[in-house]
Amino acid sequence: MATAGTLAAPAYLGLEGTRPGLPAQFYVDAAHHEKELRALWYRSWIYVCRAADLREPRAFRTAAIGNQSILVVRNEKGTLRAFHNACRHRGSALCAEHEGRLRSRYIVCPYHGWAYNLDGGLAVVPGIDIPEDFDRSQYPLYDVALAEWGGCVFARLEGTGASIGDAIRPSSTYMANWPMAGLVTGHTERKVLACNWKVFWENFSECYHCPGVHPELCELVPIYGRSISRTHDDPEWQRHWDDPDPKYRGGLRQGAETWSADGRAIGPTFASLNDQERKAGHRFSTIWPTMYAVGHADYMRIVSMRPVAPEETELTVEWLFSPETLAGPRADLERAIEFGRMVVGQDGAVCELNQRGLRSRAHRQGVLMPQEHGVFAFHEWVRRGLAAL
Ligand code: FES
Ligand SMILES: [Fe+2]
Repeated sequence: MATAGTLAAPAYLGLEGTRPGLPAQFYVDAAHHEKELRALWYRSWIYVCRAADLREPRAFRTAAIGNQSILVVRNEKGTLRAFHNACRHRGSALCAEHEGRLRSRYIVCPYHGWAYNLDGGLAVVPGIDIPEDFDRSQYPLYDVALAEWGGCVFARLEGTGASIGDAIRPSSTYMANWPMAGLVTGHTERKVLACNWKVFWENFSECYHCPGVHPELCELVPIYGRSISRTHDDPEWQRHWDDPDPKYRGGLRQGAETWSADGRAIGPTFASLNDQERKAGHRFSTIWPTMYAVGHADYMRIVSMRPVAPEETELTVEWLFSPETLAGPRADLERAIEFGRMVVGQDGAVCELNQRGLRSRAHRQGVLMPQEHGVFAFHEWVRRGLAAL
């Protein structure tokens, strides 16, 4: 059997016929949005930041998801810990800032001064009248599960069982040859899009829109110009199986080395990649609902999102480089940054357009075409999560 990448080549990936989309009210309704937060966001691994952003002991970050806030801190021994950002006394938020470094080795509640050590234990209870039998060990901070993958930190508010590895699609080893953990964030951009978070994921999950929305990307990745992203998205893939033209085979156009404004590499290729991975031009891993990572031959990108409101999603794009590439000319990095910014900008614009139409009182539900099988898979994940609530 022929193979594509390191995975066995599947048969035609498309759906047999069409499928109904999710109900339009799922994209605008506040009560439904709240339900999705509980069913999907509070029960899934959520990307917080790069572990390197919390390098020093006492460094902390807070991550807001819906009306919840998670506090991640590196303790004195160098271990990351995550807690609900809520005091055990009367529930005050502990850290109001998004990021910083604690002034002491305690997390001190700004309200009445209860102080917790960096493992969450209640250490100090100020006051003139503390009952002798008051047992501080009964009031540790509320723990939050924490995990790391490829130098990325994830937290999960509820649920047990599934590891971060279980959440990575298509598999936890798909990008194993990328030296992700050792890469450094060279540039970050953040933007609030006027769309529901699912609209962004749907757009990410299909290339039906590529010819109309991404002319430059389609020139770099010719198969995208056929409105598909992989060989097996084509029902007639067998007819072209031996054709080395990237229009059929996937990968970058002749002569291109990476996703950059001119297609040229921006730094040395990662030595750990195999030949196929080097030539493929890109590889994507997704972790619903929080982020996806893209590996190119010489750099990576992380795109993460956070639902702000039913029709608002905060998007963060981080460009990761090897220390060696990062030390090179800024103009080279800019070629990568510029290209990613352009593609994400194009996607953001159609996502906002999509959202505007979804408000129509006439529109009850969309319809998925066979090549939108990735959107269907995402919808199935959403439906399963909602059903399990
Ligand atoms: S609410 Fe935190 S010390 Fe009172
Ligand atoms: Fe796109």
